[in-house]
Amino acid sequence: MILTHVLFVAGSLLLVGSSWGAALNSDHGLSPVQATATAAARATSTFTVTVPDDATELVVDGKSIPGDGTSRTYETQPLAPGDYRYTFTARWQPNSYTTMTRTKTISFRAGQRVAVDLTVEAPDDRVRVQYVPTPTDIADEMVKLAGVGAGDVVYEPGCGDARITIAAIRRGAERGLCIDIDPDRVAESRAKVKEAGLEHKIDVRLGDALDVQDLSAVTVVLLYMGDHFNMLIRPVLWKQLKVGARVVSHRFLMGDWTPDKTETVSSDEGGEYLLHRWNITADVKKRR
Ligand SMILES: C[S@@+](CC[C@H](N)C(=O)[O-])C[C@H]1O[C@@H](n2cnc3c(N)ncnc32)[C@H](O)[C@@H]1O
Repeated sequence: MILTHVLFVAGSLLLVGSSWGAALNSDHGLSPVQATATAAARATSTFTVTVPDDATELVVDGKSIPGDGTSRTYETQPLAPGDYRYTFTARWQPNSYTTMTRTKTISFRAGQRVAVDLTVEAPDDRVRVQYVPTPTDIADEMVKLAGVGAGDVVYEPGCGDARITIAAIRRGAERGLCIDIDPDRVAESRAKVKEAGLEHKIDVRLGDALDVQDLSAVTVVLLYMGDHFNMLIRPVLWKQLKVGARVVSHRFLMGDWTPDKTETVSSDEGGEYLLHRWNITADVKKRR
């Protein structure tokens, strides 16, 4: 993006330079033949972009490009000879509660034809999941399944109103970290934490939980986020959590990482809920 702008500014200076030249008379300016040659040297680059589904929104360097289908064609303006970098972003909804964002930056030369594949999973994919709270009694069951007790440091990515972390502290955890991407949820969490008198124990932060890469102090992760988020946080859990840590997920699995325990619990509010627990072991820590 920065380079694009540098090239744009450089291109603008060249254009300004050439109009000065034209104004200066044919001694110093480009002759009509030279001007035509310069224009002819500019070349359009064509991109064939493959996106995850028909309804994906494609954004090129911050601009939404209309279109549908899984194969899109994008043509640049005629570009002066040189190297360029454009950023391609795909935004799509694999289900009714998840929005995925995948970004790739492509280097190319003016006039080149380039294929861009945005269908392949990447570690820097980003996921946004809609807010649906876990029933309060099920939050307590998650904490029990995790075996939360004294000395535990609990992390809840996508905390909603922080009810699961509050339940964990009430069951003896030493402290908790709550992160949510939605400022309204963060405000709600802070209000609930204050109401519970737990501000000294629970830190509530605004942000994308996938940007949190240091979980070395965390002993318990409690989450209700969906398959896509789980698959992206999974390598961070394997790498960062220490042997003995536990992960409990409401409803959603972690791909081929088989849970150590799964239970179905009933809520007083009605309905049955599936909860899964994974233990971090030395073998799990070898996974990639
Ligand atoms: C299904 S709700 C779960 C809320 C809470 N954990 C519970 O079980 O009651 C998902 C929450 O994650 C938040 N969220 C979604 N994507 C996120 C992301 N990438 N990083 C942090 N929070 C996210 C949403 O704003 C929402 O509050």
